[in-house]
Amino acid sequence: MNALEAREITVRFGGLVAVSDATVEVPATGFTGLIGPNGAGKTTLFNVVGGFLAPERGRVLLGGRDVTRTAPAGRAKLGLGRTFQRLELFGRMSVFDNLLVAAEAGASRLGLAADLLNLPVRRSEERRCARIALDMLDSLDLGWARDRRASDLPVGTARILELGRALCRNPSMLLLDEPSSGLDSAETEVLAGLLRRINAERGVSILLVEHDMDLVMDVCRDIYVLDFGRMIARGAPAQVKADPAVRAAYLGEEDDAAPAAPAGS
Ligand SMILES: Nc1ncnc2c1ncn2[C@@H]1O[C@H](COP(=O)(O)OP(=O)(O)O)[C@@H](O)[C@H]1O
Ligand SMILES: [Mg+2]
Repeated sequence: MNALEAREITVRFGGLVAVSDATVEVPATGFTGLIGPNGAGKTTLFNVVGGFLAPERGRVLLGGRDVTRTAPAGRAKLGLGRTFQRLELFGRMSVFDNLLVAAEAGASRLGLAADLLNLPVRRSEERRCARIALDMLDSLDLGWARDRRASDLPVGTARILELGRALCRNPSMLLLDEPSSGLDSAETEVLAGLLRRINAERGVSILLVEHDMDLVMDVCRDIYVLDFGRMIARGAPAQVKADPAVRAAYLGEEDDAAPAAPAGS
């Protein structure tokens, strides 16, 4: 069964059709890519999947279950994690506390009574969350930054911290919106390695939404291409790279985002 399906999604902003009859299927493991030029509708589709935006038409299924009308928090409980194109960290908190808050948000709610009475169950839950946060520091090589304020981090590290926050909730399906945004090529390399490791170690399914093709081509075996809200191509990296419609869609984009010419052309 697919981890995620967005079926025939249409979103309109006034007169503008931002996403038009778009379908994406994401299997339970591995990487799936969603690319397209700026304004193609990637973030809009991402927001529909996350539950931040209701589609005019279409359905969203998580693990086969219809969540089209489920709020973001409900989708998170069903195992959907996400990071945003614009970073959403607690800037004044330390790296460790950012992870701890995320782990606590993902932990089962014990209720006000347990909080007020400081019950043992509450304290053991706190220890468990601290353990999750420490393990995450370790697994993302963020130990050196443990006590730094999030707002003082270089953007590459901040992106990794945001990834860690999403992982602290132990998602089965992870949506990443332009995780390489603002990163240089060396930082993007580090991110790619980290994503591969997370994917292999945790068996989490990842939907990678990216404007830049390189990262997606590097890690994804199956890639969807949006242009002006329409899904214009789907396939393996080499296939998508050579697709005339994809090449046309990226024409006029800056060079680093455009696919390289296929060999022999
Ligand atoms: N809240 C909104 N209100 C009106 N138009 C929007 C809104 N969000 C996005 N759009 C428009 O929808 C289209 C798709 O945007 P977006 O999903 O952000 O594209 P991408 O993430 O692929 O760059 C663009 O034309 C954008 O200007
Ligand atoms: Mg976007």
